[in-house]
Amino acid sequence: MSSDNRQTPRRRPWVVGISGASGTGYASAVIRGLLDAGEDVDLIVSRAARLTLRDETGIAFRPSQWREDLGAWIGRDLAGVCMWAIDDMAAGPSSGSYRTRGMIVVPASTASVAGIALGVSKDLLQRSADVTLKERRPLVLVVRETPLRRSTLLQLADLAGEGAVVLPASPGFYAGGETAQDLIDFVAGKVLDVVGVDHDLFRRWDGTIAHNFPA
Ligand SMILES: Cc1cc2nc3c(=O)[nH]c(=O)nc-3n(C[C@H](O)[C@H](O)[C@H](O)COP(=O)(O)O)c2cc1C
Repeated sequence: MSSDNRQTPRRRPWVVGISGASGTGYASAVIRGLLDAGEDVDLIVSRAARLTLRDETGIAFRPSQWREDLGAWIGRDLAGVCMWAIDDMAAGPSSGSYRTRGMIVVPASTASVAGIALGVSKDLLQRSADVTLKERRPLVLVVRETPLRRSTLLQLADLAGEGAVVLPASPGFYAGGETAQDLIDFVAGKVLDVVGVDHDLFRRWDGTIAHNFPA
């Protein structure tokens, strides 16, 4: 997908995997937050995610202009982002010796959750998550499905037991969000919180209830 995916000695990216669950806006907000904080990003987009991207954004995402079209959607220049093809099983993140800070799967489909929990590694996204777990690096799964099957719940419990952070795409409404983007940013901000990346994507709880009623 890109010829300039070279690992420099000091580069330690966050691997962001976009799988085919609804909620591609969460991916956009997380990537924007990482880049704005000066973090390096490697990106892996599943085949199904190309469908959800199209469906939810209305953008065609031309294969020949993939980086530019993704950049326009995210609202940032993606020149420094390594783009790995989903079938490239020789890609950097498929090996534990490729240095990363960890991986965020956002949104995470139940299919990807199952594949990661079982260690199927059917594509680069699942393999990279597998590597992240075996190397004991942070793995965040922004799962999006409702309702959930018992098997998915058990797989998520298993993954949490291995150290993954299961972070459902469930925005809180206490931060004063007024728009859909505010709610998306709330979830993205929670992702950045768990990986220790600074952001100002939502207003933090300060102990003040918004509406004071007369006693
Ligand atoms: C428009 C659309 C929305 C979808 N939304 C979800 C979803 O919210 N959660 C989910 O687990 N799967 C969802 N799916 C199904 C997944 O895309 C499907 O299970 C796919 O095999 C996931 O593959 P991946 O995990 O490799 O991306 C959706 C599919 C489409 C086409």
